[in-house]
Amino acid sequence: MIKEKILVIGACGQIGVELTLELRKIYGGSNVVASDLRAENELLKGTGPYVSLDVMNKEMLHVQVIRQNITQIYLLAAILSATGEKNPNLAWHLNTQSLLNVLEIAKDENVRKVYWPSSIAVFGPTSPKINCPQKTVIEPTTVYGISKFAGEFWCNYFNHRYDIDVRSLRYPGLISYKSEPGGGTTDYAVEIFHDALEEDHFTCFLKEDTYLPMMYMPDAIRATIELMESPVEKISVRTSYNIHGMSFSPKEIAAEIKKHIPGFTVIYEPDYRQQIAESWPQSIDDSVARNNWGWKPKYDLATMTTDMIENLKSEMSARES
Ligand code: NAD
Ligand code: SER
Repeated sequence: MIKEKILVIGACGQIGVELTLELRKIYGGSNVVASDLRAENELLKGTGPYVSLDVMNKEMLHVQVIRQNITQIYLLAAILSATGEKNPNLAWHLNTQSLLNVLEIAKDENVRKVYWPSSIAVFGPTSPKINCPQKTVIEPTTVYGISKFAGEFWCNYFNHRYDIDVRSLRYPGLISYKSEPGGGTTDYAVEIFHDALEEDHFTCFLKEDTYLPMMYMPDAIRATIELMESPVEKISVRTSYNIHGMSFSPKEIAAEIKKHIPGFTVIYEPDYRQQIAESWPQSIDDSVARNNWGWKPKYDLATMTTDMIENLKSEMSARES
C-alpha cells in the first residue's frame, strides 16, 4: 500500500483550515503538511506540520514536494471574486500560475493526485440561471471566473496529456463558522450570522431577492474527500464537477435567522458585488456528480442556520468566559 503524504497549499483559508483538520483525521496529523503565506491558523496549531510557502515560488514548492515525499497536493490558494475585481492582474496571475506550478511539479515528481477547486463563477450571464447543467454555455465576466475556467482546462489537459489524476469541484458559495471567508461575493451569507449575533442587525451588500447556489462547509469538505477517494473509473469529468447544496436569497436567509433571533433586522445596500452575483446561476444541476461518485448534500437552509447559530453562540460564550 502507498503511504500517502499530503501537501495542503492555502491551508489557513476558509476551506483550508477545515479540510486540513479532516485530512489529518483520516491520514494522521504528521502525514498532512499544511502550508500558507500567512502565519499558522490557531486551529491548526499542534495538529501536524506547518510550512510557510509561497506557491508562486516554484523552486521553493518543488523543494518541499521532494523533501516531504509528497504524494497528493490540495491547492487552495486563490484570489476570490470580489477581491479579484479590485486587482484583476494579480488574481489572474495567482489563480493560474499557482495551478501550473503544481501541475508541472506533479508531472515531474511522485505526486499521484492533485485537488484544485473551481467555482460556480465559471458560469456567466449567458449560462442557464436555474439548475445550470454540467455542460453548458460558459462565458464568465469576472477575472476570477475567467481564471477558474482556464484552470479547469489546464486540469483536463494535464490529465489527458500526462495522466495526472487531477480532480476538481465547482464549489458554490461556502458557509462556515471556523475560519473567515476570503473576499468572495457569497461572503454575505457568513457575515450575516456574525452581525445577527453580535449586533441584531446586518447591512447586506446584495439585493434581497438575489438567489445564489450555496453549501454548508461540512458538506463541502465531505464532497472534496469523497471525490478524492472515489475509484478512478468513477471519475468522468476532468475539468470540474458541478455540486449543489442549497439555493436562497438574502431575504430568505434573514427570515430563517429571525426564527432564532426575533429582533434581527436587515437593510440592503447593494454595491459592485451585485453585478457579480447577477452574472451567476441561481441553482446548479449536480446530477453528473451524483451519478458518477454518489454525491448528495446533507444540509438545507434550516439545518445549516441552526448549526451555524449554535456553533457561533458556543464560540462567543467560550470567548466571554
Ligand atoms: P481563502 O481566501 O479563504 O484562502 C486562500 C488561502 O490561500 C489564504 O489563507 C491565503 O493566505 C493563501 N494564499 C494566498 N496566496 C498564496 C500564495 N501565493 N501562496 C500560498 N498561499 C497563498 O479562500 P477559500 O475560500 O478557502 O478558497 C479556497 C479555494 O476554493 C479557492 O481556489 C477558491 O477559489 C475556491 N472556492 C471557494 C469558495 C468559497 O465560497 N469559499 C467557493 C468556490 C470556490
Ligand atoms: N464564494 C466564491 C466567491 O464568491 C465563489 O467562488 O467568490
